[in-house]
Amino acid sequence: MRLEHILATTDAPAVDIPAFDAAPFVARRQALLRRMAEAGSGVAVIPTGGERVRNRDAHFPFRFDSYFYYLTGFTEPDAVLVLVAGESPRSILFCLPKDESREIWDGYRHGPEAARQTFAMDEAYALDALDDKLPELMAGRDAVWFSLGHDAAWDARLNGWLNAVRGLVRTGVTAPGTVRDVRVPLDEMRLVKDASELATMRRAAAISCRAHARAMRFTRPGVREFQVEAELLHEFRMGGAQSPAYGSIVATGANACVLHYRADSAVCRGGDLLLIDAGCEVDGYASDITRTFPVNGRFSGPQRDCYELVLAAQAAAFAATAPGRHWNEPHDAAVQVLAQGFIDFGLLQGSLDGVVESKAYGRFYMHRTGHWLGLDVHDAGDYKLGGEWRALVPGMVLTIEPGLYIRAADDIDGRFHDIGIRIEDDALVTADGHENLTLAAPKSVADIEALMRR
Ligand code: GLY
Ligand code: MN
Ligand code: MN
Repeated sequence: MRLEHILATTDAPAVDIPAFDAAPFVARRQALLRRMAEAGSGVAVIPTGGERVRNRDAHFPFRFDSYFYYLTGFTEPDAVLVLVAGESPRSILFCLPKDESREIWDGYRHGPEAARQTFAMDEAYALDALDDKLPELMAGRDAVWFSLGHDAAWDARLNGWLNAVRGLVRTGVTAPGTVRDVRVPLDEMRLVKDASELATMRRAAAISCRAHARAMRFTRPGVREFQVEAELLHEFRMGGAQSPAYGSIVATGANACVLHYRADSAVCRGGDLLLIDAGCEVDGYASDITRTFPVNGRFSGPQRDCYELVLAAQAAAFAATAPGRHWNEPHDAAVQVLAQGFIDFGLLQGSLDGVVESKAYGRFYMHRTGHWLGLDVHDAGDYKLGGEWRALVPGMVLTIEPGLYIRAADDIDGRFHDIGIRIEDDALVTADGHENLTLAAPKSVADIEALMRR
């Protein structure tokens, strides 16, 4: 995307909101039901979350459970999906009933009948039918698929239903003998994104790219970190994102060397860098971008050297992001480049092999180069299979986010003190390599300096 285009769309972007389509959710339920059927006659129980009190009678904004949403598309609190595998597989939704007085206060609820239709369920019931229906649905099944240990209250309810079935054994009923972790098949499914997920992730990525461009345009000496954060949030909501995907990091000067710093009140000063790690969530899907740029719009010499080094490390990591490459390869490629740079800058002594082997580079680069990205910013999915780093396959989405963090210390050349830089993009693994979903966020020294001159 050209800079002019980013600028032209910064203020009031036209927002297309795609109509809800149940088909991808139905396909995911069918895929899970097939996997369950391969293992026997299981029943899966997948609850979403409930409202949580923030203080007194104010609630945190509700966010659905990622696994539940992945299979339903249903965004109301207090609901449970039950999947019955085997012959005539079924999807059953339990949700809040219609309630005029509650709806006057809290807003529209689908209720079971409309939910069944909209979300293409086979059956739907009011949530309070759960304790009657669940023992019935479990009777005679060999396994329950559940996220044991995720929530103690749901664990206790599951035990209650299992005990209710066990109480019927003298009537000839058998109770499920196994509880299996439903996250195991779901994590594998979530790792490879389908077309509908990718469409949503592209929307999230595009909004976040505009937000970063907006923040760069806004930043100048004297602004405070929270004011830059306000620009990001404006662009997220203006673009149709429901919320940030995680707490925005807006860190200037030495704050950039604090990995989990959150936007606070520090004043951005000319001569310092500003590190922004921020991404929005659209229909449940995260984007995750980091950009680092000079507050006054011009990189100083050491800042530029460090920035170009991280950029080169990111390019090396991208080059190692392709089908068949293993999870660790982008990280290892970034480490090689960064470690050599630390030696060249005189920050570390010794050979490249020695610095990598001893992990001496970890003083300035202490995190890994990426993570899976999807419904959760640090998304579901194992990084190793059978003890080996797993191979990348098309449809996986991961971040590529090398950085360097040089905290002031007596043994470090003062020109490098308090330089914290991270550059993070979201990569989709494609059939022949990768696609950078967040390419539109200005990144080269020339693009950043040109944008900030305006
Ligand atoms: N923003 C979280 C991360 O980069 O992992
Ligand atoms: Mn990240
Ligand atoms: Mn990030």
